[in-house]
Amino acid sequence: MVRSFALAALVVFVFLALNTVTCFKSEEFRKCQQTPFCKDSRARKPGTSGFRASPAEVVDGFVQARLIPENSTGSDNLVLKLIVYQGGVLRIKVDQENVPGGKKRFEVPDVLVDGLEKKRLWLQRITAKDGLSTFYLSSGHEVVLQHEPFQVYVTRGQEKLVSINGKGLFHFEQRREKQEGENWEEHFRSHTDSRPYGPQSIGFDVSFHGAEHVYGIPERATSLALKPTRGTEEHSEPYRLFNLDVFEYLAESPFGLYGSIPFMLSHGSKRTSGFFWLNAAEMLVDVLSPGWDGAAAEESKQGIDTHWFAEAGIVDAFVFVGPGPKDVVQQYTGVTGTTAMPPFFSIGYHQCRWNYKDEADVAQVDAKFDEYDIPYDVIWLDIEHTDGKRYFTWDPITFPTPKEMQAKLEAKGRHMVAIVDPHIKRDEGFALHKEATSKGYYVKNSHGSDYDGWCWPGSSSYPDLVNPEIRAWWAEKFTLKNYVGSTSILHIWNDMNEPSVFNGPEVSMPRDNLHYNGIEHRDVHNAYGYYFHMATTQGLRNREGQRPFVLSRAVFAGTQKIGPIWTGDNTADWEQLRVSVPMILSLGITGIAFTGADVGGFFGNPSSELLTRWYQLGAFYPFFRAHAHLDTKRREPWIPGEPYTSRIREAIHTRYTLLPYYYTLFREAHETGIPVMRPLWFEHPNDPETFAMDDEFLIGDALLVRSVYTEGSNLETVYLPGSEPWFDIKTGQSFNGGKTYKLAVSQDSIPAFQRGGTIIPRKDRFRRSSSQMVDDPYTLVIALNSTQEAQGELYIDDGKSYEFEKGAFIHRRFSFSGGKLSSSSASPASKSYKTLSTVERIIILGLDAKKVPAAHRALVEEGGQDRQADIEAAPPVLRAKLKSNAVAVRLPNVSIDKDWSIKVL
Ligand code: NOJ
Repeated sequence: MVRSFALAALVVFVFLALNTVTCFKSEEFRKCQQTPFCKDSRARKPGTSGFRASPAEVVDGFVQARLIPENSTGSDNLVLKLIVYQGGVLRIKVDQENVPGGKKRFEVPDVLVDGLEKKRLWLQRITAKDGLSTFYLSSGHEVVLQHEPFQVYVTRGQEKLVSINGKGLFHFEQRREKQEGENWEEHFRSHTDSRPYGPQSIGFDVSFHGAEHVYGIPERATSLALKPTRGTEEHSEPYRLFNLDVFEYLAESPFGLYGSIPFMLSHGSKRTSGFFWLNAAEMLVDVLSPGWDGAAAEESKQGIDTHWFAEAGIVDAFVFVGPGPKDVVQQYTGVTGTTAMPPFFSIGYHQCRWNYKDEADVAQVDAKFDEYDIPYDVIWLDIEHTDGKRYFTWDPITFPTPKEMQAKLEAKGRHMVAIVDPHIKRDEGFALHKEATSKGYYVKNSHGSDYDGWCWPGSSSYPDLVNPEIRAWWAEKFTLKNYVGSTSILHIWNDMNEPSVFNGPEVSMPRDNLHYNGIEHRDVHNAYGYYFHMATTQGLRNREGQRPFVLSRAVFAGTQKIGPIWTGDNTADWEQLRVSVPMILSLGITGIAFTGADVGGFFGNPSSELLTRWYQLGAFYPFFRAHAHLDTKRREPWIPGEPYTSRIREAIHTRYTLLPYYYTLFREAHETGIPVMRPLWFEHPNDPETFAMDDEFLIGDALLVRSVYTEGSNLETVYLPGSEPWFDIKTGQSFNGGKTYKLAVSQDSIPAFQRGGTIIPRKDRFRRSSSQMVDDPYTLVIALNSTQEAQGELYIDDGKSYEFEKGAFIHRRFSFSGGKLSSSSASPASKSYKTLSTVERIIILGLDAKKVPAAHRALVEEGGQDRQADIEAAPPVLRAKLKSNAVAVRLPNVSIDKDWSIKVL
């Protein structure tokens, strides 16, 4: 016993030491050359696939054929199905029938939305000639099955959009009986994978015709537009999708991090398309550069070819026809789900560190925020708050009165988040471990006993959350009764859920471990963290009908419908500040709208300037949290001192003023899947200048942000797309769209602009936390376009419960035209939510003095009554610096939830 503790301590110590003093340990992780299926897949030559499809039948409204390997006599085990859903979604399935031993290949459950089947279209063949069977897909789109060689492609008119196996790389290793003398084992470092089912990899090519760039397949630290990994000569490792705990990850690497979303978007001037492969086994994707297959460069320039291969599972793939970027994301999230509506507090600022060491520390940090007039909503507790890394417990010395501690935070309208990881300490005295053991709820090793791996607590086991029964059991652990010391303001952080196992292969779980029903870990690896996140979230949901907040590190396709994630252990350097933007954009366009990076950088100590710049950028991340490693120096906003603290306060305050706008965008993400933080090409899809741009981004369609990524910078290049003017959000200065500017930047803020034609709702009063802002009045900022018009929206609900699903919300549309601002209902479904908030100010930027001469008064009409409001040239804060024509209507005092109009005279 003592020896095993000593060993545990040693492993943890070594891991911590590695964590803090060394860089990315690339030899810990498998390269393609060390992974036989990857090496073999990459070695395949185009056109060698050699499969033909049998004549297609239409069965129950889907298309079915058999895929027969060339020269095969009777091996027709592979069944192809083509299924079509409303709105331009094609599903392609290939599975093996008659698997030896009768155990079916693994098909990932629990990711596709309920009710998808209802959207299925009943297919009928429209033509069958020249070896092609053609079917309806959606208005203007058809799907074509080419029988020999086998290929599936989607067309619009005469134009091919996406094709699968157009380059002949399809392969499907069928499970078979082991031959005598065959050895299926694989070795990596000191680990042996018994591979009881032998080789079973699958691969194929996907071509995006007419595409200029491809994006997506997170999570990795690299550019948003994915660079080719292979061409005439090999360039790099393929993009890897295998959830791993990679410490001190590098910026600019195809290496996969904590999450895997096998969804890619392609974009060009003409259209956007998407491709998603629902498979949770290790997957790799090559983006192939023009000429890779020997085709003349001109010919292959017409699009982008990609090669996808996975270790196991089946082909269950989806093509999304677009035509625009938002259509593709809507089609994808129509299949995998949209963003869960976050509780309002969680879009405010979060203060985290590993660790706030005791209750006095928490109280002191909390008080300092008030002393320094800095708003914040949530304080976090990392692993040290527990009693010996036993989750759901509190260290009796440092956190003896957790309920009282939470009550003090609650009194100020604040919240707390505590960590709960999936590794459970194997300690006979720990009730949770005893119960999980006796119920047989742990993941098993390949011999069928409870798997024992090393993590923070030392010897640990991992609940098998793939099993719905075990998820329900886990969820029960979060009731206020079961989670002793928790209160309703306590929310949860799920970390290390890739899962991270310090002594496992590639710092994770062996692939031949077993989940319930004999599912091999290799089949479900990328979804383990998803299930853990799902079970925890369900636990909080059961609590009181309140919306849960559960942050996860691991991510899989569909995570958006569960909760937020963050980008893991980044480093306090300028390069990582920079790469956080494409990382968050990439997650956003693949469905995960609620994300952010550790502000300040997790490892290392940022300079005061870097910390400040990180706050200035982080204040625009959808998820805004500062976090730091145990060994770093304290760096709460007041630590760097002046002038930095004031700048940080200003950044956080800017975020708080924009909370109404962010919440409205989260509602949009919840309804449509469209991300909060967007690449420029999402809103300007015809402007090639934006396609590879990832140092600037948009928040919704109205705000453009350009962060500063270099030390001491006082000049930055900013591209402002489109034909409408843009207005600096601090000074109101206007800039013509469609131009690149070299702008002087100060240390006080980063460049951010509001697009002409938009209206942003803000709350400008300074408060301690978001809950204190509930009844505050609004400021509406109207940025006019070239025709002196603008539009905007505002969504409000109680920010806590699910009553909004029954219509308890307010959704307003604001529209400015002909010198008049009108507010009307944006949703007939909205019913019973009440608010006291009014509009205290309207700022109008870009008013054309010729069209509205000498604005000096405003006529307010509400509920059939007219009254007048004052106009001033500009609000006091802007007056000094304002360079554009702006006016402010003071105290119109209209109710935010009523119909009214305000005319500038
Ligand atoms: C790893 C996480 O990524 C990090 O954020 C956390 O502080 C440590 N684990 C300790 O829990």
